[in-house]
Amino acid sequence: MNDQFNTERRYQSGFGNEYATEAVAGALPQGRNSPQRAPFDLYPELISGTAFTAPRHENRRSWLYRRQPSVVAGRYQAYEQKTWRTGGDRTMAVPPEPMRWHPAPLPANVADIDFIDGVHTMAANGDADSQQGLAAHVYLAGRSMERRAFVNADGEILLVPQQGRLVITSEMGVLEVKPGQIALIPRGVVFKVGLPDGPSRGYLCENYGAHFRLPELGPIGSNGLANARDFQAPVAAFEEGEVAYELVKKFGGRFWHAPTSHSPFNVVAWHGNLSPVRYDTADFMTIGSISFDHPDPSIFTVLTSPSDTPGTANCDFVIFPPRWLVMENTFRPPWYHRNVMSEFMGLVYGEYDAKPGGFKPGGASLHNLMVPHGPDEDAFDKASHADLKPQKLDNTLAFMFESRYRLIPTESALNSPTLDTEYADCWAGLKDQFKPG
Ligand code: FE2
Repeated sequence: MNDQFNTERRYQSGFGNEYATEAVAGALPQGRNSPQRAPFDLYPELISGTAFTAPRHENRRSWLYRRQPSVVAGRYQAYEQKTWRTGGDRTMAVPPEPMRWHPAPLPANVADIDFIDGVHTMAANGDADSQQGLAAHVYLAGRSMERRAFVNADGEILLVPQQGRLVITSEMGVLEVKPGQIALIPRGVVFKVGLPDGPSRGYLCENYGAHFRLPELGPIGSNGLANARDFQAPVAAFEEGEVAYELVKKFGGRFWHAPTSHSPFNVVAWHGNLSPVRYDTADFMTIGSISFDHPDPSIFTVLTSPSDTPGTANCDFVIFPPRWLVMENTFRPPWYHRNVMSEFMGLVYGEYDAKPGGFKPGGASLHNLMVPHGPDEDAFDKASHADLKPQKLDNTLAFMFESRYRLIPTESALNSPTLDTEYADCWAGLKDQFKPG
């Protein structure tokens, strides 16, 4: 695994199931988690992603068998990361308007910026300490982390690459993720990001709340949307030899770093249901209307982080993948609406049907709670007069981080040159065309 870009990737299938994997045969203890001496004198270490007493269906934990325990590290000192913010700043004056950002250009010195330093917060809500809310970020990076590792105590990380593959080396093994795929890294799991394609861009949801899980399917039944078997966890892999690292930790909204004399990627075997996973959105079984009307976009939910109120998510991760539109006598794009939920959208590739042309891959939009939005003038006009034969929306992947809490843009996002100050004009030409009688 020293040459991580060439290592054959292997995966285990499933979401939140009891994975078991060993990089060296016999490294996983059998019949107990913590024998007096673990095989090969590895150190057993438990990582609990939920309280010990969380209900069984919610409980997430894994046992790691490693060459040295995580507690072996140098002393932490403050680390400066000025563009990654935590929680919503409620003192910020945020106009109650739709907002949109053009794609952020990759900076000239992108080759010097790794994933940790390349994260820029667009909007956030809640706060990490109360374990509610989320932050929507973009990352702009061009350098692999190499001998730097990162761990986030503040939240789970959902990665949505838009340009360039990611090779995510974690304590549990290695995941390769390309645009169109996503990765989910649990709170507290150490990882690093390699960038085999060089300059890379993507989106990142930092979820301070309850961990993402598959949504209930209700009347849909026992199959459909994102199927559990299509998620993939890595197999155990560890770094050979004695390799010093810099460990960067996000903890309470602040960043810290400490030297370690050994690689944190030293887990020889592990088992449990807490693990990074990847998922290919091409495997999403999309459901839509086969009669009339545009259904609620909740049918496109891949993962949900529930809040304490049933059905009202801390965060839903929703995708708009390629799909057929066949509805009869129906205005097929999304309707005009206002929503108590706040919607942060991104576009991985292609066009979004409500804003063809105006919303660019790598860009973002924010429609906060009760902010009216909907198709632009051109999309409304075309869809109102379209010949309603079956139509394939192809080569497109938009997504949404949707939250019950108002999303507060950061000061830098509000003042960014990428903020599209003309956004509201896309609706300005929607005239009163009421023709009574
Ligand atoms: Fe919406």
